[in-house]
Amino acid sequence: MKILACYSMKGGVGKTASAVNIAYWAAKSGYRTLLLDLDPQGASSFYFRVKPAPKKDWGGRFFKVYGEILKQVKASDFANLDIIPAHLSFRNFDIFLGQINKRKNRMLQVLKGLKKEYDLIILDCPPTISQLAENIFAAANMVLVPVIPTTLSERTFDQLTSFFKNEDYSRRKLIPFFTMVDGRKQLHQQTAISMRKRYKRFLRNAIPYSSDVEKMGKYRAPIDIFARGKQANKAYLALWTEIERVLKDS
Ligand SMILES: Nc1ncnc2c1ncn2[C@@H]1O[C@H](COP(=O)(O)OP(=O)(O)OP(=O)(O)O)[C@@H](O)[C@H]1O
Ligand SMILES: [Mg+2]
Repeated sequence: MKILACYSMKGGVGKTASAVNIAYWAAKSGYRTLLLDLDPQGASSFYFRVKPAPKKDWGGRFFKVYGEILKQVKASDFANLDIIPAHLSFRNFDIFLGQINKRKNRMLQVLKGLKKEYDLIILDCPPTISQLAENIFAAANMVLVPVIPTTLSERTFDQLTSFFKNEDYSRRKLIPFFTMVDGRKQLHQQTAISMRKRYKRFLRNAIPYSSDVEKMGKYRAPIDIFARGKQANKAYLALWTEIERVLKDS
């Protein structure tokens, strides 16, 4: 089982849009996928119109805390894709994390309890550097960071890289990609070139600025459902394919 966190400490950069579309493509590729909506705003739960899960026999294997998490699992409209919606899971995780003396590996311990049921757990993270974020960094095999190619986003990514270095998290986990790219803007082009030079692990595929991503809120679905042939949809599929390759080596 692999854990993929869509994370940035910057708000509104496309973490949720990416978590939703990547979860969709992962499930469609046959990965038994769980999307964990850690953001109390609950946007990814909203996009997936979560509904109650059919009863699963989880057995008596889990300790109490795993049981609490698992009670929140809901089925999505798509095969292979379950969701733990926002408010409940977030509240519970926070309680768990608070209970145990600032240990950073608590989330990993909890998620490990799911390793028989899922091949991939995707975390849609809130924009924060907190105890929760540190648990996310410790748990994730890959911390996928959407970066809008602007000066401020570049600065935020530099800060995150320094944080990883100073706190001794493996920087190999940090995988950035460009999103909301407007190829007509010189700043976007220049920032992308300079960041790719400085960070060799940038994914090659990028997500363009596109109204089809914004329409996810209207249709409450991944882009493939309502804009199959469109560029943004192809871009997310290509991004997922690249992520899948990197994940295999992680
Ligand atoms: N590639 C894109 N093109 C155009 N709009 C986009 C794109 N990606 C995301 N958006 C829009 O930008 C807004 C923020 O996106 P999203 O919610 O995915 O960001 P986020 O990082 O999860 O935000 P938050 O920090 O609040 O959780 C949304 O309105 C979304 O529709
Ligand atoms: Mg979000």
